[in-house]
Parts: sequence; structure tokens; C-alpha cells
Amino acid sequence: MSHDALPAPLAARAGSALTGRIRVPGDKSISHRSLMFGAVSLGETRIEGLLEADDVLATGRAMAALGATVTRDGEGAWRVGGLGCGGLLEPEGVLDFGNAGTGSRLTMGLVGGHAIAATFVGDASLSRRPMGRVLNPLREMGVEVIARAGDRLPLTLRGPKTPTPITYRVPMASAQVKSAVLLAGLGAPGVTTVIEAVATRDHTERMLQGFGAALSVEIGVAGERIIRLEGRPELKAQHVVVPGDPSSAAFAVVAGLIVPGSDVTVENVLLNPQRTGLFQTLVEMGADLAIENERLSGGERVGDVHVRASRLKGVVVPPERAPSMIDEYPILAIAAAFAEGPTVMEGLEELRVKESDRLAAVARGLEANGVACTEGEASLVVEGLRAGVRIGGGRVATHLDHRIAMAFLVLGMAADAVVTVDDTTMIATSFPSFRGLMEGLGAEFVEA
Ligand code: S3P
Repeated sequence: MSHDALPAPLAARAGSALTGRIRVPGDKSISHRSLMFGAVSLGETRIEGLLEADDVLATGRAMAALGATVTRDGEGAWRVGGLGCGGLLEPEGVLDFGNAGTGSRLTMGLVGGHAIAATFVGDASLSRRPMGRVLNPLREMGVEVIARAGDRLPLTLRGPKTPTPITYRVPMASAQVKSAVLLAGLGAPGVTTVIEAVATRDHTERMLQGFGAALSVEIGVAGERIIRLEGRPELKAQHVVVPGDPSSAAFAVVAGLIVPGSDVTVENVLLNPQRTGLFQTLVEMGADLAIENERLSGGERVGDVHVRASRLKGVVVPPERAPSMIDEYPILAIAAAFAEGPTVMEGLEELRVKESDRLAAVARGLEANGVACTEGEASLVVEGLRAGVRIGGGRVATHLDHRIAMAFLVLGMAADAVVTVDDTTMIATSFPSFRGLMEGLGAEFVEA
């Protein structure tokens, strides 16, 4: 597994303009869910464009360990022979999710809805992340949890014979928590209700409906989303086409904006409104960013994101936008470093519990490269360009976090001196072709 690999440092330096058209791999959120929903459906689900990266492959192995048949066909599509809702089997070994929060937390929901036991393990980063946010509602549903203090991995779950359908108000903005409760609710007789005060990515809702579940979404008087799922549905295998991941596209998009003279198009990007907060923010910063060829694919809006190098200005990013760009703050901070004037980001408390403490990791990385910033409890202010101050020359600690590694390599592409990241192995968890695609656009990397 990648978390056992030796660190592979890498540096990026400024070169010529970035130009060309690329396609980034499939969306990670939709890829995990396609494998999982295929596993609990009747028949064979075919998945085109699945993200073939460590996080998603770990989910594929977990679904196979739970009894589904998971194979890759000769055309590169993945096929999942499902067991039907309630049909998962007790795995013989542990379920190893590596670095993957989404894979582990959503599978906890699935296992909790079955009368089986399973043990979850992960790498050093995943073993530090809070799991109580998922385990607490599962306990309310009758799931037995054996975990060490603080509810961290490794842990074992045993689902009850009859999970209790609950009404759960998600205390933080988290699509993973929402999804875990809904997936456990698949096994409960009656209606499981999940209420979220702020909308988070809705792939679970949309895809469960697509697989045949009776799921409704209502907007409450205070603007909250009330999601109701009828338990024990008959889910039917589907043909899923996974669009390009906007969270991966983000790196090429920002690189195209900050490297002088660039003209970059990322084709076939998922444009679900709960995922496009970064693009909206970049436009507010003055980015020359256009969505072209917008169309529907598999029930989701997709399009080509076309950027040309732009003079950016600092903006205030409102906290309510955070859920729609939660994974994009590291790369937004890099764009902000090249803007005129400060960029203020608020409502960032969830960044503290990602693959690393991303708020601290970004702030330290910027400081190491001459970019002034102020880290608050749940906020970050990045000072823009300052006359006479050179950017770059630093070495960045990535803390087993793929997005910290990619964001700071993009910094190096536009900096005055090379930027080195201490490890790039984790990039394989979400975007294994990052280096090759960026080199294809003209980016220059140097072994460090
Ligand atoms: C995800 C939800 C988000 C996001 C993660 C993917 C998902 O996590 O950061 O990369 O697919 O549901 P949280 O639910 O912790 O916000």
C-alpha cells in the first residue's frame, strides 16, 4: 500500500506558459459511491470512468471482501456484481482503507446496516481522524462499536439484526456523516431522516435515487435540508458514467491562471453546484474562466473549464460557501498568493480534520515560501503579492496529504524560486496522473 512506501520528494519550478487540453480522472466521491451502491444492488453495475486511485481501489477491495464481485473489464470499465440491499457478508480479514476518509466512513454506514461484524484499519493519517462523528449516529441505530479512546481507527463494528431508523441532525457540514447515516438506514425498516443545516455534496442522495431507493429531499423553514430514506429498498444495478473530478481539475485550473501566458482547458468536469465553489470564487477574483460545452451526463451537469492566465485580486470568501469548495482551500490559497490584495477565507473548521490539519499545513507551507498569511482558529488570510518579495524557495511538509502536495507543486510553477514538497506518494490516492498531465501542459518538475 502507498502508506508503506518511502517518501518521494519533488520540486516544481517556473517554466514556459502552460497550454493545452486535458481530462482529469473520474470524480472521487462518485467513484466510491458507485462501487458501494453497486455492491448492495441486484445485478451487475457497470462503471465507466471510475477513478483508479488508491482511495477508490481500497473501497473496491472492501466491497469484494464484503462479498461483491468487483472486476475490471477489457474496455477499462469496472463491473460490480451486487448482493442486493442487506446482502453483504461478514469479511474474513480487516478492511484496510489506507488514506481514505470517504471510503472508510461510508462503508461504516453500510456495515452498520447489516448484521455482520467488520474491522476497519487505515494509514497513520486516517488513524488520526475523528470517527465519532459517524459512530455516534450509528450507535443510536443499534450498532455495537469497539474502538480505542477517542473513536479512532482501528475499530470494529457489529451491526444489529434490526437497525433503528433514526432522525439525525448532522452537527457539522459533512457529506460523509450524512451519507453514513443514510447507508445504515438502507438496512433499517421504516424511514431514516437526516437533517443538514447547510447543504453539502448530494451525490449519495442523487445516486441512491438513481439505484431505485425511495428518497426525498425537502427544504425546511430555516433552509435546512431534510432527507428521508425508506429503508430496505430493492436497489437495482445501474450503468454509471463518472465525470471528471472538479477537485482534481482545480490544480490545473489554478496553474493556468497564475502561470503567465497560459491557456488551459480541462474537459468533462463535474459541475454539480455543491462542488463548484472554487470556480465561482476564482471568477470573483477576476479570473478569465469560462465554462464551455455545458451538458448533462448521467444526471449531473458537466462542462469544459477553460482558463487563461489572469491578474487576480483578493476577495472575501464567505463561510457559507465552504461546503461547496471544502477540498479546494489549499489550491485557492495558492491562487491568493498571486492576487493583488488579501484573500479572506472563513468557516474553515472542517479543514482541521482532513487528511492533515490543512489549515496549519497550508499556512506553514505559504510561510516557508515567503507568502504572508494569518492563520485563525477557523480562518485564513493570505496576503497577496508584495512588491520586492520573492515567492518560493521553501520545502513544504505534506503530512500524508495529497492535496497539500499538489497545491504547493502548483505554487512552484509560478514562483520566483523552486518549491519542494517532502513527499508525493500520496498523490496516488486521488490523482495518480497529476504529474504526467501537468507535464503535458508544460509544467517543469525537478527531482528533489
Ligand atoms: C466527501 C466529503 C467531504 C470531502 C471529501 C469527500 C464525500 O468530506 O472533504 O473529500 O465524498 O462525501 P466531509 O464529509 O468530511 O466534509
